[in-house]
Amino acid sequence: MKKHIVVIAGDGIGQEVTAVGKQVLEAIAQKYGHEFTYDTALIGHAAIEATGSPLPDETITKSKASDAILFGAVGHPKYDNDPSAKVRPEQGLLGIRKALGLYANLRPIKLFDELLSASSIRPEILKGSDILFFRELTGDVYFGEKGRSEDRNTAYDQMIYSRYEVERIAKKAFEAAMTRRRRLCSVDKANVLESSRLWREVVQAMAPQYPDVVVEHQFIDSAAMLLIKDPRRFDVVLTGNLFGDILTDEASQIAGSMGMLASASIGDTTGLYEPIHGSAHDITGQGVANPLASILSVALMLDISFGMKAEAEEVVAAVDSALKAGYRTRDIADADTPGGMILGTEAMGSQILDQLNSVA
Ligand code: NAD
Ligand code: IPM
Ligand code: MN
Repeated sequence: MKKHIVVIAGDGIGQEVTAVGKQVLEAIAQKYGHEFTYDTALIGHAAIEATGSPLPDETITKSKASDAILFGAVGHPKYDNDPSAKVRPEQGLLGIRKALGLYANLRPIKLFDELLSASSIRPEILKGSDILFFRELTGDVYFGEKGRSEDRNTAYDQMIYSRYEVERIAKKAFEAAMTRRRRLCSVDKANVLESSRLWREVVQAMAPQYPDVVVEHQFIDSAAMLLIKDPRRFDVVLTGNLFGDILTDEASQIAGSMGMLASASIGDTTGLYEPIHGSAHDITGQGVANPLASILSVALMLDISFGMKAEAEEVVAAVDSALKAGYRTRDIADADTPGGMILGTEAMGSQILDQLNSVA
């Protein structure tokens, strides 16, 4: 099968982990006789430096012409510490999500058994956790009107949702629940926020169409607590843009590390695949970033955008094998991991490639 992939590595460790993700794509292409062609495009700080814009038009044009996008991360300390900066790397990521209509962000929280002891949560609470988040991605407080008063002493960000925006992501979440354990937890703040009351109203109205799905509603504060108290009670979680952003970073501790969580951003056109983590300034350039989130994002791409189920499963199996063999990056190592088994970004990538090449 022929596919054209745009690689947008972005900033910081985005560059480091995406290079490994691309190698995995290429290994799969070779093994299965697919023809993947690649292009690269700029975003974030790298794009600002080169063009003045965090999202050059060319990046959108190339992305729209592709079959899928492999994305790294955006962000730079210069902007994190300068609240007055008008042009920011993150605008690139928000802009591409909006421009491509990528309204559904799927964030699977899959705990590999080998990483039970990498988490700060007790193994008996964690074992068997398997959650699929549907984070709405092109609405909410992220995209509402924002501004400052004339004297600049008051600021606002409007939290806004329209019925169709809730319906289209809820539909995807209900459908996914039907293929899983048939439980859907919708997370909002309907006891306080009007946009959450609309959210809840829409989900309640849709529930009768899915009589086999057990629906519950949780407030965001309680959901954040329950996620750590009893992660196994969750199957599919449906939530808005901001709550989903926060809950999934929290949920990374169920999987062991931010370096383990992949995501798929999908809508009506080209899908974009990216780790949930950022550019991680604290470890950029050290060669220690965990590439598995990028590699697992590749697996999601193969499965969701290309319908290559066997290929996707093989990538996940290769990750599992490397973990079973005892290999770790620093973020998922524990006190018992022998020093020699703690690998850098490229060496972990090589382990995955070796696994892929060793299986017939
Ligand atoms: P971050 O996700 O970059 O890092 C949080 C912590 O997790 C850090 O200690 C980091 O070292 C660790 N970590 C993240 N990914 C890792 C990996 N693959 N392997 C090992 N450790 C990993 O979040 P932050 O520090 O809050 O933000 C840094 C920058 O990234 C900011 O500029 C922020 O705006 C940006 N950001 C971008 C994205 C994105 O592009 N999708 C997501 C989150 C944050
Ligand atoms: C993420 C990030 C982004 C978000 C930022 C960088 C705009 O945190 O992808 O989770 O908040 O969506
Ligand atoms: Mn985030």
